[in-house]
Amino acid sequence: MIQFKDTGLANVIELKNISQSYDGGKTFILKDFNLIIEDKPAQGQFVVLLGMSGCGKSTVLRYIAGLQEPTSGSVMINDRVRTDENRVGMIFQQYSSLPWLTVLENVAMGLEFKGINKKEREDKALEMIELVGLKGHEKKFAEYPTLSGGQLQRVAIARSLLSNPDILLMDEPFGALDIKTRLQMQEMLEDIWHKFHSTIIFVTHDISEAVFLADDIYIMKSAPSQIADHIVVDLPLQRDRDTKRLPKFLDLVQEVEDRMMKVSELK
Ligand SMILES: Nc1ncnc2c1ncn2[C@@H]1O[C@H](COP(=O)(O)OP(=O)(O)O)[C@@H](O)[C@H]1O
Ligand SMILES: [Mg+2]
Repeated sequence: MIQFKDTGLANVIELKNISQSYDGGKTFILKDFNLIIEDKPAQGQFVVLLGMSGCGKSTVLRYIAGLQEPTSGSVMINDRVRTDENRVGMIFQQYSSLPWLTVLENVAMGLEFKGINKKEREDKALEMIELVGLKGHEKKFAEYPTLSGGQLQRVAIARSLLSNPDILLMDEPFGALDIKTRLQMQEMLEDIWHKFHSTIIFVTHDISEAVFLADDIYIMKSAPSQIADHIVVDLPLQRDRDTKRLPKFLDLVQEVEDRMMKVSELK
């Protein structure tokens, strides 16, 4: 298992000695689970979580988003216990916008819990809408097929960024998109990450997507889950479609696949 050392840098996310049981402690989904993501100031980072279905990836994101408390263990965000002030949004595969609200209303909701007046919320939301490439769509309802799948994910990303650009949690966010939209979304996310120096925690089953996006890939083993392996993706920080043709990229994809197979055999 991976041992996380405390190097003295601030921690963006710290999950410590987490266990998760749904049957009063007879079986554990996660046990002695640790994950530390350190702050890399003025850089941000892209962390991808990989693991077989059911190993607890979504559960880990739900802890960080504050949607679920573990059975035991501690969850810290920026070295503090998570509160409404440092809330973290989550982007799901299923569209997570409210279809009876407009794009603008959905995005502005990201600031609703922060005591900011409506005018200012909407002004900030408009900036974010432009940034994710949805200018001109503000007044449309955030519903399919008024907006495409990719556009709906852009709405969710804009809302999350507005709420807290420091941390983005993404749970298989591009899984339902066609290949062209998916590649466009990957590149947009690259740009966002470099602009805001965000810490992005991203779950996917697509190894090529993982290597393309990540600085760090963590592989979770199946229940009782822990982080079993860590791969540093030492590709250039600025990536585009040509990056996927580099021999180094192709080697990494193969290496990650091999290491996932190894982890899948762990008890
Ligand atoms: N409320 C619940 N009650 C019982 N089991 C649950 C509950 N929520 C999740 N689980 C179980 O926890 C495990 C991890 O789920 P999840 O985090 O969704 O996995 P992943 O996202 O890696 O596919 C799964 O086996 C799932 O069935
Ligand atoms: Mg999941």
